[in-house]
Amino acid sequence: MSTVNTVFLSGFRNIVEEKLDLSPHLNVFSGKNGSGKTSVLEALYVLSCGRSFRATKLDSVINVTSGEATVFAEFDTGARLGLTRQKAGKHSLKLSGEKQVNWEAAARTIPTQVIDANSFVLLEGGPKFRRQFLDWGAFHVELGFVNSWRALKKCLANRNLLLKRDAKDSAEIKIWTEKFAAAAVDVDRARSAYFEGFRENFYSVYSDLDPSLAERLELSYSRGWPDQDHLLDVLSASFEGDCRYGATQNGPHRADLLFRIGRDLAKETLSRGQQKILVCALKIAQGRCFSESVERPCLYLVDDLPNELDGDNRAKVLKKLMELNAQIVVTCVDSNDLPYSLAEGHKVSLFHMEHGTILS
Ligand SMILES: Nc1ncnc2c1ncn2[C@@H]1O[C@H](COP(=O)(O)OP(=O)(O)OP(=O)(O)O)[C@@H](O)[C@H]1O
Ligand SMILES: [Mg+2]
Repeated sequence: MSTVNTVFLSGFRNIVEEKLDLSPHLNVFSGKNGSGKTSVLEALYVLSCGRSFRATKLDSVINVTSGEATVFAEFDTGARLGLTRQKAGKHSLKLSGEKQVNWEAAARTIPTQVIDANSFVLLEGGPKFRRQFLDWGAFHVELGFVNSWRALKKCLANRNLLLKRDAKDSAEIKIWTEKFAAAAVDVDRARSAYFEGFRENFYSVYSDLDPSLAERLELSYSRGWPDQDHLLDVLSASFEGDCRYGATQNGPHRADLLFRIGRDLAKETLSRGQQKILVCALKIAQGRCFSESVERPCLYLVDDLPNELDGDNRAKVLKKLMELNAQIVVTCVDSNDLPYSLAEGHKVSLFHMEHGTILS
């Protein structure tokens, strides 16, 4: 199991400089609003993928009085991952001293699942968010997915460019259409394979968290073009429309996950708390698929776990998270809001924050 032993933060939001020794199991950050709890989770997330889960501009994480933000983590494996972000988009990412040109190695070193207020986009947001969720799993579990996905992106961009240029009859568009269809089949194959395993894990987790809804909820994967048709036939039939829009209307870039209860979408019938439980089930199932395949758990960052959940559901969600045997970093305003009895046998580290400083 690869876990984060130590995190060093400097110039990150309201945290001037802190060193944290994390438990390999449950870590709880408590404190008043604005004390810096979410910033700790955000720092770990930024280190894992180069993005924030709450800000579009990464510059906003740099402390207003500092020129740069640094996050550095040491793992039980001995690996060291460090990121320094300077204003105006400059950054330096190093894995055990070696400069990294992209986030692929970091994502594999610190695979992370986040549960926070933004996670509701999985139900309420557009298909893009559900595709990102599915692709996180396919990236980690399905060999070769990342190459197929990159090829697909390139072919789609080239085909759309030619559609926009009104190069309808060019031999070039034919070539890019064929390449696009080939990459599409590879991406769909990997996503479908991942989805099959994911679905099973999802129902197993969700039935424990919310048995009556699990019986009624239907989760399905829609690949982005009709199930019974070949993509090349679909592209040929929709060619005039694609030219008119200047964009390809069918393909894996239109894939989606659907959550239905009877004829309604889950987001239209579930209460906020029920939605949170569903989101937790999705994220926990994702972590299960990951550890079954990669044979180590991923890191869980759970922002404000108690929020929107009643006492029973807090306990159920925490129990399911603890069963993953993963490293978990949780925030809450009041540390008494969590049922620690569930963590028996696991090492729990409590951190209390005030004004960006860790007091205990
Ligand atoms: N770039 C920055 N430089 C300095 N301070 C910042 C910066 N960005 C945000 N802050 C402040 O840092 C604090 C970080 O807030 P954070 O969201 O981590 O708090 P929190 O403990 O999670 O609060 P809540 O309980 O309300 O969710 C806030 O007080 C915020 O105003
Ligand atoms: Mg917060």
